[in-house]
Amino acid sequence: MKALILAGGTGSRLRPITYSMAKQLVPVANKPVIEYGIESIAAAGIRKFGIIVGDTGAAVEAAVGNGERWGIEITYIPQDAPRGLAHAVATAKPFLGDDDFIMYLGDNLIKSSVSGLVQEFETHRPAATILLTPVPNPSDFGVAEMTEGTVTRLEEKPKEPKSNLALVGVYLFDKRIHESIATLQPSKRGEYEITDAIQDLIDRGLTVRSHIVEGWWKDTGTVEAMLEANRLILEDIERKITGTVDDASRVEGRVQVGAGSRIVNSTLRGPVIIGDHCTIENSFVGPFTAIDSNTTIVGSEIEYSIVLAECRIEATPARIEGSLIGRGVQVGRSSSMPKTIRLVLGDSSAISLP
Ligand code: TTP
Repeated sequence: MKALILAGGTGSRLRPITYSMAKQLVPVANKPVIEYGIESIAAAGIRKFGIIVGDTGAAVEAAVGNGERWGIEITYIPQDAPRGLAHAVATAKPFLGDDDFIMYLGDNLIKSSVSGLVQEFETHRPAATILLTPVPNPSDFGVAEMTEGTVTRLEEKPKEPKSNLALVGVYLFDKRIHESIATLQPSKRGEYEITDAIQDLIDRGLTVRSHIVEGWWKDTGTVEAMLEANRLILEDIERKITGTVDDASRVEGRVQVGAGSRIVNSTLRGPVIIGDHCTIENSFVGPFTAIDSNTTIVGSEIEYSIVLAECRIEATPARIEGSLIGRGVQVGRSSSMPKTIRLVLGDSSAISLP
């Protein structure tokens, strides 16, 4: 079995972060989201990986590399434009050949092993295995209609969903999916939909198995989902303090502080992860916060947030929460009168002032 990871796409829902970075590289607990999926699939014994890339391909390749560190072999496959998940599979056909493959959406986060799924696929040999999970907002996903435990219909982002079971971004296929993809026409939103291809498998009378999974999957396509994914991963971290913590500071619970980082007169309340070479001074960092390397936080409070590398947050007048702060961002307070707010914000930025 091979693996096909999708890391192209537009990432429009995660702007402005995605103007300057691939959404699959946004860190969750200080590790690019795509790496969780790669690790999970490599742990299932799969060695040949194809990664579909778009405009951000060079950055994805620079960050992920050739796979050596996981003992796998990665082939990068450029997709001319984000024309849909089924189009990505068609683009990867020369790499996939007639082999079975596990397809994984590179902005999804899977927390546990896919080994059981792979074994089950190889035992039962269905045309496809799909994963489903109950969600409160099915209209944002591919949705499965079930009759007596069997998937009877799939619909992509339906206006009137027939169930609350969304397709999770992990699929297993054998070569018969390629015949179904070859019959597709673009959907109403102009994409070649993998849900339509799976529907074609069902219509051809082929077996499509489904599993309902709960709790271990997150789509990270929006800021809210990204923060939730971060929370999910931080729930499980162990305490590990490598940097220095002065006597005036309090480090409560499961907190990681990376090499060369300094915690000065501050409170860290876990679960929290602080990367390498950060300074946290006269500040509070609360639960479910990930702060990436070389970031400085002075005289501020922050919780339930993701802060990327090289940021400086200083003297903020209220606690920052539920925030995703991009690389090299400066958040500060002006000391001059009159009291004004000065903003340098990129397109699609969002701020809420107290
Ligand atoms: P989506 O999140 O559905 O699409 P998107 O990346 O265009 O995001 P948005 O809706 O916010 O604009 O894509 C799921 C994953 O599949 C994601 O990792 C990007 C990837 N992808 C491709 O590689 N090629 C494609 O043609 C599409 C549509 C997505």
